[in-house]
Amino acid sequence: MQIETKIKDVIKKSGPISLSRYMEICLWDDENGYYTSKQVLGENGDFITSPEISQTFGELIGLWALSFYQQFINKKRLCITELGSGRGTLLKDAIRTICKVTNNKIDLDITILEKSERLITLQKENLKSENVSWISDIKDLSLEPQIIIANEFFDALPTNQYVKSNEGWHEKKVTIKNGKLCFTLDKKIWVPSDSVFSDLKVGDTIEYSEKTTSIFSNICNHIIQWDGVLLVIDYGNISGIGDTLQAVNKHKFKSVLEKPGKSDLSSHVNFNLLKEIASKKNLYISPVREQQKFLLELGIKERLKSLTENANTAIAETVDTEVKRLIDPDKMGSLFKVIAITKTKRHLEGLN
Ligand SMILES: C[S@@+](CC[C@H](N)C(=O)[O-])C[C@H]1O[C@@H](n2cnc3c(N)ncnc32)[C@H](O)[C@@H]1O
Repeated sequence: MQIETKIKDVIKKSGPISLSRYMEICLWDDENGYYTSKQVLGENGDFITSPEISQTFGELIGLWALSFYQQFINKKRLCITELGSGRGTLLKDAIRTICKVTNNKIDLDITILEKSERLITLQKENLKSENVSWISDIKDLSLEPQIIIANEFFDALPTNQYVKSNEGWHEKKVTIKNGKLCFTLDKKIWVPSDSVFSDLKVGDTIEYSEKTTSIFSNICNHIIQWDGVLLVIDYGNISGIGDTLQAVNKHKFKSVLEKPGKSDLSSHVNFNLLKEIASKKNLYISPVREQQKFLLELGIKERLKSLTENANTAIAETVDTEVKRLIDPDKMGSLFKVIAITKTKRHLEGLN
């Protein structure tokens, strides 16, 4: 059955649905869900992520993880967990780099939290020579210090939206009008539990993802008990105000309610909310950095130089264009933000 028909059936049966329910069906429907049924990533998919653009991204994250491990984790093995690994490209580049600079003298333990069976198959193929295990619940993380990497993960989780009126916050829901899907505001008043949503104006929209809050809080608790670090790189909305939900199909923006299940749906991560959750748990939160500054401090220009100095002109130009796409402020350089969470204040490369 087409997803639009399924959504309309649910609405006809039980009334307007929340945006997170709408996103969940569009992205994860068993039969026709976006992540369940489509090739989503890469130039031939609908969107492309930093590790898919340039190998330098995963390489630098690998070196960042190794440096954190060498400075702060005095354990036998280096445990890296990636949340939502896509095709596994970041990990492949990171592992290759870590093994190279340590002359393979490191005990690496890799975990992937992944929901898509299709992507798990691709990840298994891409990482077949590595020591990787998969989990489907963040609570199953192994009980030891983890270096947790989340690149474009939290933006992919379902979110709700609320709009402020004189009476309070009303949830924005999806309903049917004249046979078509459309938005409506719920009459009930929603009371936010987090203080970052206070002091906002009538007419403001905010987004709140229970899934993000739950996964993020679990990771914070893991860090409190087992040390380690969470590195988040994502589309950032530092203020947390505004409607950032977007649909992307074949690298172009579409309407969120158009052709459900055919487009990627994502929303900007509310970094202020993440900071509030972590600070309530007395964790250290690094300053929020733009991707450009983070990658430049990690040495992306030097890596570019070493990749291009002996390459022919065509390859050198391609590699140069790819790296520029990651750091150009008009492209991913400033739209993407980086933050890290640790147990106590630490000197974190690229984030000081
Ligand atoms: C936008 S892609 C990013 C992929 C990868 N990190 C990259 O940079 O190329 C989002 C990833 O998160 C996964 N994902 C989304 N929701 C998830 C959930 N609730 N639990 C686990 N994985 C999830 C998707 O299947 C996909 O692998």
